[in-house]
Amino acid sequence: MSTSPLFHAAKINQLQLTNRLVVAPMTRVSASEDGIASERMVRYYEDFARGGFGLTISEGIYIDDQWSQTYAFQAGMINARQAEAWRKVTDAVHRQGGKILAQIQHAGALSQGNHYQHETVAPSAIQPLGEQLPFYRGEGDYPQPRALSDAEIHQIIDSFADAAERAIKDGGFDGIEIHGANGYLLDQFLTRYTNQRSDKWGGDTAGRMTLNLAVIAAVRARIGDTVPLGIRISQAKVNDFQHKWQHGEADSRTVFSLLGDSAIDYIHVTEHEAWQPAFAESPLSLAALARQFAPGKILIANGGLHQVDKAERLLDQGADLIALGRGALANHDWPQRVKNQAPLREFDRTLLAPIADIKASELPS
Ligand SMILES: Cc1cc2nc3c(=O)[nH]c(=O)nc-3n(C[C@H](O)[C@H](O)[C@H](O)COP(=O)(O)O)c2cc1C
Repeated sequence: MSTSPLFHAAKINQLQLTNRLVVAPMTRVSASEDGIASERMVRYYEDFARGGFGLTISEGIYIDDQWSQTYAFQAGMINARQAEAWRKVTDAVHRQGGKILAQIQHAGALSQGNHYQHETVAPSAIQPLGEQLPFYRGEGDYPQPRALSDAEIHQIIDSFADAAERAIKDGGFDGIEIHGANGYLLDQFLTRYTNQRSDKWGGDTAGRMTLNLAVIAAVRARIGDTVPLGIRISQAKVNDFQHKWQHGEADSRTVFSLLGDSAIDYIHVTEHEAWQPAFAESPLSLAALARQFAPGKILIANGGLHQVDKAERLLDQGADLIALGRGALANHDWPQRVKNQAPLREFDRTLLAPIADIKASELPS
């Protein structure tokens, strides 16, 4: 039996967790065309709780019927039907003794296959790098987005709050994660080259955090003080893997200090290899920097941590919880296997496939 600290109990706000192991958010594009979570999703999510993960973070869920939907067949949280479908997922996870947070997401310029709108929106009218993801049924360049007006930005803040409230009250989720990472709308605001605004939503690094902080405040006001709330933050983007914050450690101080003073309970940082130095000038990982500049917050670390020694190393660097993506896909029962010192299954890329049928030729390499 493993005695790893990964199996110590934890708490986010009022939410008790049986261990420190978290399923990372993973888009499954397995809902109906109009965003209703499927029965297969119920079984998929239930399986991680049965396998011993104390916490699961849902795939990114879209928040309005405008520009937020990121991929075709993504599940949403914009009406009662979508919330009821998620309720089946959350009930199943709870029956297995697990907890589940809803990750709420706005695609911004990276929207592809939106059921509601064809145009895309962003902080500034700048065409995204890279190409749409064929894995998620996209093709060719991303279109040039339209710059959002101030009124539209306020509307998006309200949509985050509406979706969060619906996820808790009707969807049965235990808490909320705001998707501020990986190149989607909130990260587009944080990133210098996609945000060239000169109003209060742009400017220096602190200015480019304004939308993140406004969304946090609005969601917190709506869900109340006792419901777990966190935000996911990254440097890399799905369309720009190598991106580093321009001012290195100084940017990490700005970002994490502002988040440290905000109403969130936790920060979830993701890097390709979470233990590596975040910037050339310093030996510290992004998780270690978040720990340093936001000492009062719970910290979730993610990125290549599916071996026990790596996961424990991140606990040593200051993380409270460890999120596994590919490792969880390969081993829905990773916690039980590790606890019982049973072998882990190797990851292979066919495991990336959505739960819905998809041809092998459509998988990313
Ligand atoms: C199939 C797949 C879908 C993903 N979808 C999301 C998502 O919806 N939201 C998100 O924040 N990250 C998403 N990610 C990123 C993962 O949460 C995680 O950061 C990444 O897999 C690296 O962690 P790992 O090394 O443990 O796999 C996705 C990753 C994969 C493999």
